[in-house]
Amino acid sequence: MIVVLGSANMDVVTEVSRIPRPGETVAGKSMRHYLGGKGANQAVAAARLGASVFFFGKVGRDPFGERLLEGLRADGVDVTAVESMDEEATGTASIWVEESGENAIACVPGANGTVDADYVDRIFHRVAAADVLLLQLEIPLDTVVYLLGRLPRGRPLVILDPSPAQDLSRLPLRRVDVLTPNRTELLALTHMDDMESAAGALLRAGVGSVVCKAGEDGAFWFGETAHHVPALPVAVVDTTAAGDAFNGALACAIMERSMMDAIRWASAAGALATTKAGAQPSLPCRTDVDRLYRGGAVS
Ligand code: RIB
Repeated sequence: MIVVLGSANMDVVTEVSRIPRPGETVAGKSMRHYLGGKGANQAVAAARLGASVFFFGKVGRDPFGERLLEGLRADGVDVTAVESMDEEATGTASIWVEESGENAIACVPGANGTVDADYVDRIFHRVAAADVLLLQLEIPLDTVVYLLGRLPRGRPLVILDPSPAQDLSRLPLRRVDVLTPNRTELLALTHMDDMESAAGALLRAGVGSVVCKAGEDGAFWFGETAHHVPALPVAVVDTTAAGDAFNGALACAIMERSMMDAIRWASAAGALATTKAGAQPSLPCRTDVDRLYRGGAVS
């Protein structure tokens, strides 16, 4: 069983020819709402791949919150312990997506920002019963610090997506089995300018292993030794939630396959997520991931 503690956002996505620079105005082509938030995306990603998934977090008692919960339920995710807040709105993310598929994101946490230690206490027995726990940093860092500090050793296996990147020095990094930054986050976390040194610093700080999601350069796994998984060729439409697809798939695969194979399979899920617009609408099913992983065409 996979547990995700994290954010749920309504994504407000504007398609632009290129992401505006500071002080610049560019014409947008379209504006759409998509279900998103790194936590909810990772929960949906794992559920679409066949896992039994519980999502924990908070939304506002508002139409965005309702739509997010409906979406999670429709994908079979258990949301019975998600709390709907009267005093906070559902989190939102403003996303610009340019023609290359690259994006830039600004989040307003809203209810996600109220996921606190008291909430962790209320759900802790269910988190501790998980096989794999997926975390990201769109809920307060203090909450993640508190939860990791309470977890027993060994189980659940913890996969932490350090996004958005922030100072991790207060985190009990020894309780993180797999850290999954993208390349920008990996360098920002460590203030270093090459991936190998940055990963080395995190490993020395106690992280079990580092899996760096490097987009068109594939993925890099840093553990006792370093390994590279090349990217799978797909036609990129929108990179939003590709990292979430990767993490959801990694959580499923890590229980079933070798680490190297799990990263290859998760890379297929991440690649497929770039071929469709939006966060949750782009998350693939197991048949499609298996097909791309085995070298088949993208449908
Ligand atoms: O990882 C993609 C997600 O980041 C989007 O769905 C958006 O909500 C932001 O949280």
